[in-house]
Amino acid sequence: MPDAYILGIETSCDETAAAVVRSGEQVISNVVASQIAMHQPYGGVVPELASREHLRAIVPVVRKALYEAKHSYTSLDAIAVTQGPGLAGALLVGISYAKALAFALEKPLIAVNHLEGHIHAVLLEERQKGNHELQFPVLALVVSGGHTHLYLAEQHDQGWTYENIGHTRDDAAGEAFDKVAKLLGLGYPGGPMIDRLAPHGDPNAVKFLPSQLKHADRRGHQRQGKAKQPDPDRPRFDFSCSGIKTAVLRHVETHNMQLAVELRRKAMANTSKPSLEDYLRNCDRQTLDLVASFQRAMVKDLVGKTLAAARGYNVSTLFVTGGVAANNELRQTFERDGAAEGLPVYFPSRSLSNDNAAMIAAAAYPKFLAKDLAPMDFSAEASLALR
Ligand code: KG4
Ligand code: ZN
Repeated sequence: MPDAYILGIETSCDETAAAVVRSGEQVISNVVASQIAMHQPYGGVVPELASREHLRAIVPVVRKALYEAKHSYTSLDAIAVTQGPGLAGALLVGISYAKALAFALEKPLIAVNHLEGHIHAVLLEERQKGNHELQFPVLALVVSGGHTHLYLAEQHDQGWTYENIGHTRDDAAGEAFDKVAKLLGLGYPGGPMIDRLAPHGDPNAVKFLPSQLKHADRRGHQRQGKAKQPDPDRPRFDFSCSGIKTAVLRHVETHNMQLAVELRRKAMANTSKPSLEDYLRNCDRQTLDLVASFQRAMVKDLVGKTLAAARGYNVSTLFVTGGVAANNELRQTFERDGAAEGLPVYFPSRSLSNDNAAMIAAAAYPKFLAKDLAPMDFSAEASLALR
């Protein structure tokens, strides 16, 4: 089989990304233009700003990806782009550009689900390392700012199928990290800073009861988009991440920590690009203990439910992927507890944990082989389900 060079384009949220990947197994170039600095003052992603920034960045980012890969537009075999889930306006920028390229160059166009991309980030890197021994089916935890989803992923002759066996009933795990960081005055996005501060606190200082980790099913299966209703005969392993955010807020209120939070917020607003040391100087023991305890509770819940699902479905391999998969304690706990159950756990490298286009180009490769191409009139799907 001759090599296929696929250009991937990803614009689902706040990263404009393009990459060239060879045959789903080698990253030739991988360019990511992050918009974090632009959204930071608002404490979250502003969809309208994200779309405009994608418009500004898409052409230079794609050109850079081709330049670094030493490829020209004509030497590509296909163009792949994220169809959803994500912000509709942001997705449309990538899709319109990918369509224009595919049309003008007369190249195949492939639509990729963003979550499938996160799963293929792991496969891509394992193949790149020469590991072709993965056992299927795989259970994949996709854990990011928008998702906390469990999928059974299986490879068939004509590509991949995915069965959702669990998802968050309210906030995504990354969303909980970001909201807790925001309410503690730790900046945006909060996951990476909580990750770095947690080792400085006592993870057993604040006890979160299991009931605080649960929350009534308010949004229910809406987040599943157009997914069919789950099979009632198949066990489910759902998550809930919004109760713990409320528990952290209560803790701040009942322990009179509001003034300390306000002072820290002001100090950080007056510091350009605050470092870990800047945050440590402005965090008292009480705050560091709360941060460490929050992270411990999140990690325990994510790892506990995922391993229960792995046992329930008797899988032989576990993937943990998405932005939150960069978390050090999450990785260490999955590795330790997975090994205790004889379950190998694979993560993407930290650079491929966050949103990127290499994962989109990698997920497109089996579709390229199966000639599963997108029609020119396909559009963005903000709640696209993976199946
Ligand atoms: O996959 P991603 O880049 O974008 C989405 O598809 O959402 O994930 C971003 C999310 C954010 O919520 C961010 O706070 C979280 O991943 N995150 C982390 C870490 N790095 C990023 N959460 C915990 N620990 C980290 N080290
Ligand atoms: Zn993502």
